Amino acid sequence: CGIVGYVGPQVGDKALDVVMEGLGRLEYRGYDSAGVALVGDGKVETRKRAGKLANLRQALAEADLPQTATAIGHTRWATHGGPTDANAHPHRGGHDGKLALVHNGIIENFHGLRGRLEAEGVTFTSETDTEVVAHLLSAAVDRTGDLTEAMRETVADLEGAFTLLAVHAEQPRTVVGARRNSPLVVGLGEGENFLGSDVAAFIGYTKQAMELGQDQIVTITPDTYAVINFDGTPSDGKAYEVTWDAAAAEKGGYDTFMEKEIHDQPHAVRDTLIGRTDARGDLALDELHIDEDELRAVTKIVIVACGTASYAGMVAKYAIEHWTRIPVEVELAHEFRYRDPVIDEHTLVVSISQSGETMDTLMAVRHAKELGAMTVSICNTHGSTIPRESDAVLYTHAGPEIAVASTKAFLAQITASYILGLYLAALRGTSYGQAAAEIMAELQAIPDKIEALLGTMDRVKEIAYYMADSRAVLFLGRHVGYPVAMEGALKLKELAYIHAEGFAAGELKHGPIALIEPGQPVFVIVPSPSSEHGLHGKVVSNIQEIRARGARTLVIAEEGDEDVVPFADVVIRVPRTSPLLAPLLTVVPLQVFALQLSTAKGLDVDQPRNLAKSVTVE
Ligand code: G6P
Repeated sequence: CGIVGYVGPQVGDKALDVVMEGLGRLEYRGYDSAGVALVGDGKVETRKRAGKLANLRQALAEADLPQTATAIGHTRWATHGGPTDANAHPHRGGHDGKLALVHNGIIENFHGLRGRLEAEGVTFTSETDTEVVAHLLSAAVDRTGDLTEAMRETVADLEGAFTLLAVHAEQPRTVVGARRNSPLVVGLGEGENFLGSDVAAFIGYTKQAMELGQDQIVTITPDTYAVINFDGTPSDGKAYEVTWDAAAAEKGGYDTFMEKEIHDQPHAVRDTLIGRTDARGDLALDELHIDEDELRAVTKIVIVACGTASYAGMVAKYAIEHWTRIPVEVELAHEFRYRDPVIDEHTLVVSISQSGETMDTLMAVRHAKELGAMTVSICNTHGSTIPRESDAVLYTHAGPEIAVASTKAFLAQITASYILGLYLAALRGTSYGQAAAEIMAELQAIPDKIEALLGTMDRVKEIAYYMADSRAVLFLGRHVGYPVAMEGALKLKELAYIHAEGFAAGELKHGPIALIEPGQPVFVIVPSPSSEHGLHGKVVSNIQEIRARGARTLVIAEEGDEDVVPFADVVIRVPRTSPLLAPLLTVVPLQVFALQLSTAKGLDVDQPRNLAKSVTVE
């Protein structure tokens, strides 16, 4: 869910405007309902609507709302209770409804709390876990006379994950926020202050931000902010300046964020490569802050991630093992967390996460730490929870990614994990470590190749249009092409709601080939003819096998690879690069394909149904 809070110097329209603008920028975090609360003298007004933010905008346009200096807002991704007007946030608390609350996360013990409140005679108007907190908080304000103190008492009763923002009619120039396992940042303005799930919430107004730690409460007024821990002790937030501006979080002339982000990919890779080498050209990851001897002693690497990030991890495995000779496992974070993995102090657990807030991944990192592992985070969001809790971080510099389906972050994640792999190879003195500068030079050439590739996508767009009625699409790849196949399938599921599967091409004959019938479209990611072990020839044979059974073959092959031509219905060319770096190119046509197919079906590219960009619940 997305959360915004604002308190300004004057009573007027600005509070509502700021909150609505912030919700617009945070809508990618959840978009099945939205609402706002406005706090004026002695009164709180709320408006909320199921559906996208546009529905709320319309409701607000028709309402006669008071002018205020303070407001909070919420855009929801439903967990407890369906996406209805009643379940939308803010929720009111107390008989007098003087308190309003928005929440991201899950209150795990809400059943018990609700039972207790109902026994005390409280009536509920929604099915959410959040409303329980609104009532508890309201009662605590009645007892203590202060919203911050009430928040402190209330969070002590809560289990689970939450970001909470509350306003109260008796304190109209105050917003109080609390966070546990869920994001909240403060925006510091002049004579006004902001709260948001991430800095996008207020980037149009200030670049001065402040991180909050785990289990902290923040109170903002127009000219003050104060942070305390849940135990009541005062704390200092960590201030920082946001390095991008509002334009980076806008569409910049493209129809959708996804299209813009696909075109941002050369930058995402280039910026992620910048500053990772010293004057001699050697890799220098000063930011890693893990002792080199400890890194030399690593006996195993485990990569944990979810969704697209996990496919970046799978790509990374091929390269890191090859370059370092350290065994690498890749595991979905939620699976890793709840089994009994073999981890010790010589294990390096690398988490990959665009948002740095994915709860499944965060829990895996915490588990790894408990088991004594070293933890490195590859992350795109400055100061987010996962890098904060990891021993070290390697930031990707893709800039804000807004479209729910990840594109540029994926390329930046692969780039960063390659840098990490080369760095470890250099530390261990492997032959690839010694040749790291050459591989880095090849990586440096990738952004221009992506740029060139993006200029040749007309044919891919055309195919997407006439494939809009497809019921199923298959993707085959081998070696690093295998995770690319799965990522291509994921993009199509997410964006076009088409059944899509990615398979290892070698596995075809062990089952999936039974799916092939005349006309079945199959994308095949063909390795470079320069690949080792005759891999290229093997995939060309796979294309022949499916073609013989009637498949429509859409073949992604390197420029100059003529062997595929006789067996391809369509050939999509990608520039040459070394086989391990190819995913940075071969995935691009698959992203464009999914985007165009979704557009052809008239679907919402940036906000596909049922999904949210950062999933902050387990
Ligand atoms: C969600 C998004 C995916 C994303 C995954 C991991 O499921 O819809 O696009 O790949 O989370 O997100 P992260 O922020 O951890 O990279």
